[in-house]
Amino acid sequence: LTVITSPDYAPYEFYALDANGDPTLAGFDMALAQYIADYLELTLEVVPMDFNGILGEMQNGTADLAMAGLSPDEERKAAMDFTDIYYGGKQAFITVSGKADLFTDLASTNNSEYTIAAQTGTIQNDLAAEYSPNAELVNLTKATDIIAELISGQIDGAYIEWDVAVAYKANYPELTIVCEVPYEDDGNIIGVNKGNADLLKYVNEALNKCIDSGEFAKFVDAAQELASGDTYEGMLGEDGKPTEAPEEEAGE
Ligand code: ARG
Repeated sequence: LTVITSPDYAPYEFYALDANGDPTLAGFDMALAQYIADYLELTLEVVPMDFNGILGEMQNGTADLAMAGLSPDEERKAAMDFTDIYYGGKQAFITVSGKADLFTDLASTNNSEYTIAAQTGTIQNDLAAEYSPNAELVNLTKATDIIAELISGQIDGAYIEWDVAVAYKANYPELTIVCEVPYEDDGNIIGVNKGNADLLKYVNEALNKCIDSGEFAKFVDAAQELASGDTYEGMLGEDGKPTEAPEEEAGE
């Protein structure tokens, strides 16, 4: 079972680091991927990539599943089929504590003096265009880049999934959640290889069994717990190790 993901998104998918700093792919999407593979009696192969690459891969039909905190955005239906919703996420606008006074509510983000980011290829870009059209909007490849640029002061605010903001905040306390952002397609789905009706059916079966048995809730708890410890978010280097911290790269 080939599953593509974008491991910059705790508690959904990220690398948990052990005492030696060695990374293991973790997060509740990854636990669910293993559960589904076991249910289908298939061997799991996870292929990490930047989020933007996921949509292209699904379009090409090269992967079985995309598990990356995906929102059920209608436009994506041309590239993949959607499972049932498995997690009820919501959206957030975030900044850093030093800039918290600038933003009183969502309307205050719509100001040409501010630079506001979202991850490339995500529905958060649509939210930025909808709620902050007058701001200078930037696309960043990784959710990690957004956090690094917020902290270094290159951007003023960003749109991101609520629970991801909470997880990053555990490691970067200066992050501040300004408000919830309304979004009609809230919740997350798994993207399934398009037109593969059997795969869709059995993945939904596995998914619902995982949720109904209470197993999935345990995956979420475990992922949140791990995400508050040592993590690395983004792609590993060629040696399979974390590369330079993005905050350091940002100053180059
Ligand atoms: N839910 C948003 C979307 O589907 C963002 C997902 C980003 N996922 C990630 N692993 N970075 O567009």
